[in-house]
Amino acid sequence: MSKIFPVDAAVAASALINESKYFELYQASLDNNDAFWAEQGMRIDWIKPYSQIQDVSYAKSDLHIRWYHDGTLNVCANCVDRHLPEKASQTAIIWEGDNPENSKHITYQTLFDEVCRMANVLKSLNVSKGDRVTLYMPMIPEAVYAMLACARIGAIHSVVFGGFSADALAGRIIDCQSKLVITADFSHRGGKSIPLKKNVDDAAKIAGVSDYLESVLVVKNSEVAVDWNDSLDHWYHQKAEQVPAECPVEEMSAEDPLFILYTSGSTGKPKGVLHTSGGYLVYASLTHQYVFDYHPDDIYWCTADVGWITGHSYIVYGPLANGATTLMFEGVPNYPDSSRFWQICDKHQVNICYTAPTAIRALMREGNSYVESTSRLSLKLLGSVGEPINPEAWQWYYDVVGEAKCPIVDTWWQTETGGILISPLPGATPLKPGSATRPFFGIEPALVDGEGKELSGEAEGNLIMKRSWPGQMRTVYGDHQRFIETYFSTFEGAYFTGDGAKRDKDNYYWITGRVDDVLNISGHRMGTAEVESALVAHPKVAEAAVVGYPHEIKGQGIYTFVTLNAGLEGNEALRDELVKWVRKEIGPIATPDIIQFAPGLPKTRSGKIMRRILRKIAEDEFANLGDISTLAEPAVVEDLIANRQNKK
Ligand code: WT7
Repeated sequence: MSKIFPVDAAVAASALINESKYFELYQASLDNNDAFWAEQGMRIDWIKPYSQIQDVSYAKSDLHIRWYHDGTLNVCANCVDRHLPEKASQTAIIWEGDNPENSKHITYQTLFDEVCRMANVLKSLNVSKGDRVTLYMPMIPEAVYAMLACARIGAIHSVVFGGFSADALAGRIIDCQSKLVITADFSHRGGKSIPLKKNVDDAAKIAGVSDYLESVLVVKNSEVAVDWNDSLDHWYHQKAEQVPAECPVEEMSAEDPLFILYTSGSTGKPKGVLHTSGGYLVYASLTHQYVFDYHPDDIYWCTADVGWITGHSYIVYGPLANGATTLMFEGVPNYPDSSRFWQICDKHQVNICYTAPTAIRALMREGNSYVESTSRLSLKLLGSVGEPINPEAWQWYYDVVGEAKCPIVDTWWQTETGGILISPLPGATPLKPGSATRPFFGIEPALVDGEGKELSGEAEGNLIMKRSWPGQMRTVYGDHQRFIETYFSTFEGAYFTGDGAKRDKDNYYWITGRVDDVLNISGHRMGTAEVESALVAHPKVAEAAVVGYPHEIKGQGIYTFVTLNAGLEGNEALRDELVKWVRKEIGPIATPDIIQFAPGLPKTRSGKIMRRILRKIAEDEFANLGDISTLAEPAVVEDLIANRQNKK
């Protein structure tokens, strides 16, 4: 039996939603789904109001998802302009630099001025409605200005996380045919500088990129000089001086694309997840308000990077649509030391702090004194996202960081879902450490077995969604067939999440992790196939298989089995070389934790690698390998076990 933390009466009294209200509204949201979403759609401003609510079919032969599709709006106007009458002088963004001496407050008026200026710079570089713009940016306010500037003029942004390599960046520029890349000279993290512009220079030289890329816009973020290519590069501060201050908004259809965000799947290259305008904004703003119980004047901080969906929905679009004050942090949790997060909470009087289990575990390991040296009196609510949070980390977050006064919202969702689907609501949901608890309004999860049969009551199975919600992705950019195959082919008539889950007797959901070949490394998604194809591209590698294994801080680590070309011998030098290679091919976030050289990999007689066995070996479950009689060469397994590499 897991512990239950009842809702605090004082929290329930001041919260937007209490428990009985949750049940009532949840039931109503399913019973009268259109009426519910018709009403919620009005939380944002429309240029032309919608009369249609949803037009959805999950049938494979006729798959389409449309919300509010006859309405028109502008997302940037909703996040900026509409707050000016009342909130021009309120802080929209608190920016905290990597260096603790740097911070600034950006008002809604300043945000408006900066976004208009950036939008006009984009126009001056030949960007117009429907064009794709790739952002490769540090966590500085210009990243937000750039996203909103794209939204203002109807361009589609594709933010690529700064931890991806030049090769990975090039692949994403090509896939969506971007004509512009916005970057900075350097980014600063943990006292180190990362040469973003240099990576863009390298990406620009990769075959295929120059077919699309017309310009690179560079924000100056350091005093160090960078290489310059006059025919491609433009300094933002110079361009900004030459453009008008005012920029009208583009009228967009609800279903016009807002952004593309690449994410890893179980096979092939990363997919360009496409989100559209109206439904996405309604869903991001609604969930931001209710899940975080956001009240006017709250200071809200999500520690994610804008390179991930969490940054899109819960640093930028959700909070700004709600006229909130959102904090943006350039740095890392342990610089200058491991009290940094809590120092920031004190410095800016943060009320709501939303972070990831991997950060919590890393800080927990450093001991309580870093936390206890700060007051954290402003905190009211804590959040977690990205991977299952282990009960021990949950308890530490609750007791030590929140001093047993702050509810924790463990929010389950995905790049594809656009916003949070399963989560406690702070005034409504008794908490169980490790459980994402209950579905949000309008969300209908279900568990199914391997044959697609729905399971009832207490059960464990594959997590699906039986109906659509406005924040759902609409397609894989440029590959609608892949969208259908990935998400709507496994279970007839439902959206398949790729996750497994348990449901307990109280109808609480417990996410057990991916059931496909997707890894979750420190909350970052990585396909085993991607790492494998990076490895086999190395001239000395004949074959590679990649699996996850439990890692104390990262949640999962990357375990790679590598077979070298005939006659070659594995050694430490080659291990280092392969690690560097993968970092170059994909980026530091894909760094293999363990490389085991293996003379052969376990395969079926038809030649399929049996990952099930490799996973067991990586997890040290040697006694439990299951049936290996179908292996072509059972002796391979003994060698793999004998040479099991030590965990890091
Ligand atoms: C995968 C999605 C959406 C935010 C960041 C990750 C895992 C996410 C939780 C949670 C258990 C979680 C799932 C999901 N995941 N949040 N609270 N509890 N697992 O987005 O990169 O698209 O990854 O992250 O496995 O499928 P993402």
